[in-house]
Amino acid sequence: MEQLNTEKITTPKLFILSGLFLVVFGLLFGIVGAFQYIIPGLFKEYLSFEKVRPLHVSSVIFWIIITAVGGTWTYILEYTQKKIYSSILIKIQLILFVFTFIAILISYFFGVFGGREYWEFPPLLALPIVLGWVLFIINFIKTIKTIKHHPVYVWMWFTGTVFFLFTFLESYLWIFPYFRNNVVNDMTIQWKSYGSMVGSWNMLIYGCSIYLMDKISGNKAYARSNIAFALYFTGLFNLMFNWGHHIYVLPTHNFIKHISYLVSMTELFIIGRIIYKWNSTLSEAKKNFYRSSYRFLAAADVWIFLNLLLAIMMSIPAINLYTHGTHITVAHTMGTTIGINTMLLLAIAYETLSNSCISFEPYKKLMKSGYWIANFSLFIFWISLIIAGILKSKWQMSTEQIPFAEMKEMLKPYFYSFLIAGTVLATGLIMVIYPLVKNQVLCILNTEGKQIEKTEL
Ligand code: HEM
Repeated sequence: MEQLNTEKITTPKLFILSGLFLVVFGLLFGIVGAFQYIIPGLFKEYLSFEKVRPLHVSSVIFWIIITAVGGTWTYILEYTQKKIYSSILIKIQLILFVFTFIAILISYFFGVFGGREYWEFPPLLALPIVLGWVLFIINFIKTIKTIKHHPVYVWMWFTGTVFFLFTFLESYLWIFPYFRNNVVNDMTIQWKSYGSMVGSWNMLIYGCSIYLMDKISGNKAYARSNIAFALYFTGLFNLMFNWGHHIYVLPTHNFIKHISYLVSMTELFIIGRIIYKWNSTLSEAKKNFYRSSYRFLAAADVWIFLNLLLAIMMSIPAINLYTHGTHITVAHTMGTTIGINTMLLLAIAYETLSNSCISFEPYKKLMKSGYWIANFSLFIFWISLIIAGILKSKWQMSTEQIPFAEMKEMLKPYFYSFLIAGTVLATGLIMVIYPLVKNQVLCILNTEGKQIEKTEL
């Protein structure tokens, strides 16, 4: 029997494990939502689209947030080689997050809403999330002690945690009449906070990914190089200012739109960098492709490229006018949250949770097939949404006044391919996630820490 780890599961790992449960839950609701695209009114009485959409979207957003936090904790502790400042605070943070996320999903089931798009739950439930996040920041700062002389990923984790709290609070300013009573200001703040919040969790995820890449390549120089910091500042600049493309349709000051357009274009710099590094990435990929976590990093690289092309086109005000409110926006959101965020988080989950008391050997084939199935179907899923979006925008701008029902009929073939590709995508992702969850759960249940023979699987 090969020597396997018998360590008890740690709190950072539990964050990631909770995230994996959430994403499976979210995937199942995504499939129900895709069915409702084709059969409007399906399950209307108990599980209408108004409930299914937040159940799906909140589950997957919580997957991203809680796993990013778990990854950050795992790598901070690995990097500092020190004990965490307070193991009580991190446990309270986990309990607050898990119980609040469960309460939010239950509230959706019972049709109890009260929030805004993406955070539809009653605003009171935002309080434990804020409290958990404050504990996270305190524990993080006390653990790393100083921000000086650290590699770029520590800066990314630090800015990500602070900006997430700021933007999350900002997204709740609407509860005060002063902000709510002016529609344009209200919507500007709302969309600005969402745009920056995504930038904040990206800081956590990208920080973890750079740490992981360093670990795989064994090269510590990149995370301290000038180019790494240049990319970090470009990301930070975008986090603060590129949200403008969310508000092109609002009658707000033109200079805001122009600045945000220019800022969005700095992302070209990142694209340039990706293309420049392409060759070396490819040869690295060949060398390391046997490592599951490297595969997910390589997939994210391709998805970054495809999604940036779409995002940059959508940032052009003349094009944005057409794409706004169409499935192209959904393609952009899902393309980035699945192709980039989920792939990177799976890389982190594989690297972190593969240290389990049971071998992964029997699952290698399942994981590999799941990986390819997920990536190919994601491409078809994404393209279906883009085509549906183009057709809808043509309908929106058409002077011929084509009836709504006719437009819906026109989109149907693309909704079918969206449903089929989405179901295959969910299957592929579950094939990848299943061994991780099964191994961890069996290790937790194996409380005596006794090793399980490979043949017992
Ligand atoms: C990890 C995987 C997934 C992630 C991270 C994800 C993320 C998201 C996000 C962020 C949205 C909100 C889009 C917006 O408002 O612009 C969304 C909406 C949606 N997703 Fe997913 N998704 C995932 C998988 C799936 C799958 C597999 C399906 C279908 C089989 C699906 C079906 C839907 C549907 C129907 C909507 C509602 C779109 C609308 O309101 O018109 N998702 N998803």
